[in-house]
Amino acid sequence: MYHLTNNFSLRDCNTFGVFASAKYYLTVASAEDLIQFFHQNNFAEHEERLFLGEGSNLLFINNFNGLIIHPEIGGIRLINENKYFVEIEAGAGVKWDQMVAWSVDRGWSGLENLSLIPGNVGAVPVQNIGAYGVEVSSVISEVRGIELLTLEKKNFSQEACKFGYRTSLFKEKLKDQFMVTSVVFRLSKRPGFQLHYDGLKEKVLQFGQIDLNNIRKAIIAIRETKLPDPSTVGNAGSFFKNPVVTESKALEMKSLHPKIPVYPAGPGIVKIAAGWLIENAGWKGKSAGNAAIHSKQALVIINKGGATGKEIFRLSELVAEDVLQKFNIVLEREVQVIGELEG
Ligand code: EPU
Repeated sequence: MYHLTNNFSLRDCNTFGVFASAKYYLTVASAEDLIQFFHQNNFAEHEERLFLGEGSNLLFINNFNGLIIHPEIGGIRLINENKYFVEIEAGAGVKWDQMVAWSVDRGWSGLENLSLIPGNVGAVPVQNIGAYGVEVSSVISEVRGIELLTLEKKNFSQEACKFGYRTSLFKEKLKDQFMVTSVVFRLSKRPGFQLHYDGLKEKVLQFGQIDLNNIRKAIIAIRETKLPDPSTVGNAGSFFKNPVVTESKALEMKSLHPKIPVYPAGPGIVKIAAGWLIENAGWKGKSAGNAAIHSKQALVIINKGGATGKEIFRLSELVAEDVLQKFNIVLEREVQVIGELEG
């Protein structure tokens, strides 16, 4: 069954908690529902479209003048198993952290470092979520969905997804053209713990021995100290990506600022901690109207209450301009900005 609403308020559909509305808002409970909707309704091809899960990585700066599609496809099931691995298919509408908890409960490893990330399964491959030394692309074996142009079901192998740092084929070439209906994860029955993130092992040991449950507990504890809970403080996690610069630029930065955190990101390129740049440009805890830079993690912008999307966006522009001026480094947004500034 699908359900279409006109002039739908998006206030509760984005973790920034900003006011915006959608011209059309469609919920579907299966791939077939979506196909049926397009067959039964005359939706112009050029009508703007957006797939929306929990709205935890986007910022509405205006009303959305098109069709929002919200998949409510549930279900987690075991589809393959051998001595070493299991393959699990989860519906796009499953809450991400429920998926993580479900896998940890069964003793299957791969997702534990990604505990407590807000959002739904369908969005997870789109921006290739990552945290505490793990990117989800390393455990995705297939992404299943529907191509809107043809209304045909299509599956993409891990390789075909073209995963990168917070990006994939679904965020680039197939942006808003392919609806993820489910994701297949390949999890290990013999845990290979990923504990190289600074301080993670020590945190796990505070909870007892090193096992999946304690890793999950440690990750949750770390996130809770640094990152604001979107159910109480509007935010969308990291607002910017960590910028990738040349090795020579990183060396120059290191000589000027010996404490700046840098991470190798491939041959000749280095990732720099955007949070450090923003903090050292003097923005940590600073407000502009009802938007502010989080006081415990400068990469996060928060809604102090009643902020508009435009207010949050403008603060991000001020921060990025200042970082450019002070460090000559361009910050790219990680959060997807929806709508035009005008109007
Ligand atoms: N730092 C500062 N000041 C700050 C924030 C960070 O100096 O205000 C320094 C920290 O001291 C540390 C370094 O920057 O040395 C990295 O900080 P952290 O470990 O907190 O991670 P991050 O690079 O700021 C990334 C992800 C987060 C993810 C964490 C943990 C991106 C854009 N962000 O943040 O992901 O949780 O690593 O793995 O890659 C998200 O994508 O929404 C998100 C929260």
